[in-house]
Parts: sequence; structure tokens; C-alpha cells
Amino acid sequence: MMCSLWRGTLLTLTSSLNRRVFQCCRQLGRSYNIASCMPEAVAFQGVSDHSGLYKFSVNESDRFWGAVARQRLSWISPFHTVQNCDFSQGKIKWFEGGKLNVSVNCLDRHVQTCPERVALIWERDEPGTEVKITYRQLLELTCRLGNLLKRQGVRRGDCVTIYMPPCPLAMASMLACARIGAAHNVVFAGFSSEALADRIRDAQSSTVITVNQGVRGGKVVDLKRTVDQAVQNCPTVQQVLVAMRTENTVPMTDRDVPLEEEMMKEDVVCEPVAMDSEDVLFLLYTSGSTGKPKGLVHTQAGYLLYTSLTHRYVFNYHDGDVFGCVADIGWITGHSYIVYGPLCNGGTTVLFESTPVYPNPGRYWEMVERLGINQFYGAPTAIRLLLKYGDEWVQNYNRSSLKTLGSVGEPINTEAWEWYHRVVGDGRCPVVDTWWQTETGGICIAPRPADPEAEIVPGMAMHPFYGIKPALLDTEVVTGDGVVLQSAQFPAFLRLRLALCYNQYCPLNCATPLLGFFFTGDGAHRSKEGYYQIIGRLDDVINVSGHRLGTAELEDVVVCTIIIMFGLGVYVFVVLKKAVMVEEDVLAQQLREMVSRSIAKYACPDFIQVVRCLPKTRSGKIMRRVLRKVVERNTDELGDLSTLDDPDSVHEVIRGHRRLR
Ligand code: WTA
Repeated sequence: MMCSLWRGTLLTLTSSLNRRVFQCCRQLGRSYNIASCMPEAVAFQGVSDHSGLYKFSVNESDRFWGAVARQRLSWISPFHTVQNCDFSQGKIKWFEGGKLNVSVNCLDRHVQTCPERVALIWERDEPGTEVKITYRQLLELTCRLGNLLKRQGVRRGDCVTIYMPPCPLAMASMLACARIGAAHNVVFAGFSSEALADRIRDAQSSTVITVNQGVRGGKVVDLKRTVDQAVQNCPTVQQVLVAMRTENTVPMTDRDVPLEEEMMKEDVVCEPVAMDSEDVLFLLYTSGSTGKPKGLVHTQAGYLLYTSLTHRYVFNYHDGDVFGCVADIGWITGHSYIVYGPLCNGGTTVLFESTPVYPNPGRYWEMVERLGINQFYGAPTAIRLLLKYGDEWVQNYNRSSLKTLGSVGEPINTEAWEWYHRVVGDGRCPVVDTWWQTETGGICIAPRPADPEAEIVPGMAMHPFYGIKPALLDTEVVTGDGVVLQSAQFPAFLRLRLALCYNQYCPLNCATPLLGFFFTGDGAHRSKEGYYQIIGRLDDVINVSGHRLGTAELEDVVVCTIIIMFGLGVYVFVVLKKAVMVEEDVLAQQLREMVSRSIAKYACPDFIQVVRCLPKTRSGKIMRRVLRKVVERNTDELGDLSTLDDPDSVHEVIRGHRRLR
């Protein structure tokens, strides 16, 4: 039965796609050979090119990952079993028996060979004030912080919450946790005190690390004040370590510890703890399709190996390159491609504190010139924004250092892709559209710029990475071509019982959930060449400017409403309780304040429409697909409405929507 559900080859590319392809060969010239690119490949018999390597990685998964793990990571004791997974039981174990320390892999081994190499460049909010930190200095910071955490009572297995903007001490805090065997829980420093409190409580942290104030886009943000409000409702918190990002003093209580002052009293040597491969490295909360955000778990060895391998090959990163990922460290992109991937590879990584338009829309490219960035990794939402300001903001700066341009977070439309490629990259840098999720820990589908044979089709994420087996299944949800699913047999996939929650995809015509697959929630096309194009979310998770939001999470805050995506924003339908009489403007203002207080500013609704009732099926399910069509102004394509309980509800929603415009 399962075979009939597979669509071996799905549709050819949609006609809207520009078939001009970008060849990567010119970068590497004729001397290319797979072993010089990937040394481990020498051990894989008969493998002579990247597609051979890909086939080997999925067919001989144990041999592939075993060799790569031995070659790329420094082990305290070797592993005895490469993988021990049974996804239908939620069991995912990699490199069992192995012991290692992630901070040693990211710092100590590079300090031994190149202590004065720059590990990170902190690109502070004010342009031209960057701070460079070498591997030796970053190790010292990490050790002092590790010792301070131990002095404060943090033990192996505890979870430390970090609420900081991108800054060296945030990075050192993550690495210090890894050094002493504690897990970290980084919370994006734009979240409200309530959202922060939820995450601290769920993680049961006794320690929070923060800064007095953040600085972003020329504005000062009172982060310590947000933490003070949050910890009032977090009984587990015993101490708050406060670093000084600005010179302004903030009220300190008995619970607060001045971070820099106390860490300077600590030794610069901190013995790394030998961690099991499957011990927890960090928790990261993300929006799912139901209820509260979930704390996803990533473990030590598999995650580190996968992020370092993808960083090396997806971006074609080489020793000495400067890697500029402009995400925030509070998201998975920051964890994997600012901190762990680049540092594991001994790279130089940029930590960007500012915004794409501060002090002007040339900020990214001025930074590229000043820091000599070779790989730039950003989000389509920023690219689309900058495109509107015109080409001069890009062309004013020298971008000859750029070699690869990356994109992540949401589908990149063809216009943005073309502009990124033609204007930013002067038509000579491959654009790698990278598809992945917090759950997958690292990039799963992306072009292969290191492959001289590879082509890149604008707007397509192209190939599965080594070891990744995507699958597309029919879906009744929308008229897409499939849902990306994948077998979770790769080392960076999320761990613990949570895996089971994801194992519930029930395809069309199937009475029981399909076992052994992970349902990503994204729809995709696959071309006859086997290239993938991601078409966006199919479930109740919405993507707002590259940030993931669960509709259920918003609906928790805004009672009696239903939220759906509209272009780049959030569209809310409100059903009022009968007794409430309120002006729409006042209501809109109140709703925005509620969401901003409970989640974050970026989650605020952009459009609000009051309706008498929502279109529901006879079994009581809201027909979100219909609402989406109304908002997208595609009312001619509402699809099958035969299960609708009250047909008038749809007409009312359409009339109200027209009035609103
Ligand atoms: C979306 C971010 C299209 C997708 C790394 C996914 C993308 C969700 C792409 C994960 C891409 C990410 N093309 N959509 N290249 N990259 N997405 O967990 O819907 O914050 O499921 O991880 O972002 O968001 P998350």
C-alpha cells in the first residue's frame, strides 16, 4: 500500500520557474577531484564524484557516518556503534559508546594549531566598531565562564537559560555550558517576559545569563528589566548573571551576579567534561502546529558532526574564509551556522548585532567589504526588503570577497533570488537556498557549490544533503505536490520522546499513521531531474518574515480568533463573544498589545477582521484553507465546500474582507 502513495517522480518544474541554471564548475577548474574536496571519500570504494558520494551516504550510511565522525571530530573515547535507530519507537542514537567534549572540538584543538586565528568577529550595532576575538581568547572566556557557572552551583545535566543579543559572551556562555556538561536554552532576546518565563520554567533553569541592555538599530533595549519581570514567576531561578553591554547601570538584586567582574576572578583553565555522544547539548523552543512552543533537544556528537559537515560543503567553506551568517543566535540558524558548524571547522565566524537597514540599507554590503566576508548567509525577508531600496546601496561597496550566498527561513521567490545573484553576487557567486528546520539541526536540502558538475536552478533548494532521504507523499491538505517527509536516519535529527510526536503523519487514503517518517509540514515539488523546490507550510505553523509561529500559540493569547498567513504578515479573524461591543480599531490595538506582551513584537497581527462565525466543517474543524484563499483574494478557487456546515459563513467572511480593503 505504501508504494502507491509515493510519487517517485513528481511534476516537472513549474512553468514560472526560470530554467536558466547556474553552473558551479568555474570555481574549481579542471583540477577538481573528490578526495581533495572530501578527504574521507578516499575510504569509500568506487566513489569518484558527488552524486556517487550521495548514493554511498544513503546506501552505506554506517560506513559513511562512521568514517566522517572519526575524521572530523576529536574523541575522548571512540564510539562502538555508529547508529542505533528505530524511528517508529522514537529511538535515535548515534555514535554510542563515544565520549567527547563539544567545546574542545570547537576551541582547544584549534588553539593547539592556530591560537591567534580569529574565531569570531563581533559586528557591533555601530558600523566600524567590530571586535575580533581569537581562538585563544575565546577559549579563555569560555573557561572563565565555565568556572563561574560551576562556582554558582551549575552541574552536569542542568539547563542554563541564555537571554542575550549576539555578543561574544553569549557565544562563550553556550560553549561554557558545553564544557561543563550543562545544556543551554538560548531564548531569542526579542521575546517578551511572559514567553521567556514559559521557557525558563519548562527548562527548569536555576541560572539565567543576560545583559544589562541590548543595542539594536541605534536603540537601547532593556533586557535585564525583561528578565526581572520573567523570573518573578520562575521559582527555580536562583541567580541571574548580568553582563554589561552598555555603560548604563541597572538595578541589581541579591540574586544578580555581575558577570564580567566575577568571571575575571576565575581561572583560564577549566577541565572539559567527557560527555556521552547522546547527552543533551541544548534545548531550543520552536513553534509547532499545536499549543505551546516545544523545547526541542539536540545532542552532542551527531549534531556537531552534521553542522560542521554541512557548513563545510553547502557553503564550500575553506580554511581562512570569513563566514557571515546574519541570523540571531536565538534561532537554530545561529546555533548551527554562527556557533557550532563554523567553530568546529576552525573557521572565522561573524556575529551580527544590528539590522539590515541600520544606519542605512547598505549595511550588509559595507560590512562585507570591511570584514572581507566570503560566505554570506541571510534570509529572503531581508533580501526582499533591500531589493526595494535599489542597486546603488549594494554597488557602492566592494563585494569581490564574496564566494557563496546563502538563503534560509522561507522560500526565496525568483525575483529575490535573481537580485541576490545578479546584483549582490555580481552574477558570479552560487546562491544556495538551504531548506531545513529546528528539528533537523542542520541543512537538509541545498545546492552543492562544491560539486563542479552541479547546476543550480533559481528558486530551488535542489539536492538532499549527504545521508538525507526526503520523501514526498500525497496530501489532501492543499493542492501542492507533496509533503516533505524524511526518514530520520541522519545524526542531527531531534532526540528524545519528542520524536514520537512527529511520527503521526497520516496520508490520504491511509487509516493509520505512517511509521518511520518525520512529517516536516512543508510542501514541495520534485522535478524529473530529482531537484526539490519547497513551496511553504501546509500545516498550522505560519512563517512570518522567516520566524516560525504556531497558530495555536497565537490563538492561546487572542481568545476566539483564528490566524492565518497573508504574504509577509499575520491576518487575524476575530469572533467576539456576543456581549462584547467594541470598536474595531480599539480591538485591533488591544490585540496587538496582548500578542506583543505574551509572545514578541514580530508576532503582532497586521490585519484584523471581525466575523460573526468562521467557516467550519460539520465535524467542527475550521476550514483554514478557505480563509487562506479569501485573504489571498483567490475566492474563485475555494475548492470543495461540500462539508461546510454553514455556507453563509464563507460569504460573510468574503464580504467583510472586501470592506476591510
Ligand atoms: C521554512 C529555520 C522554504 C520551512 C532553519 C521550515 C524554508 C521552517 C526554507 C523551519 C527554505 C526554512 N525554503 N522554506 N530554504 N528554510 N524554511 O525551525 O517552512 O525556524 O519548515 O528553522 O522554515 O523553521 P525553523
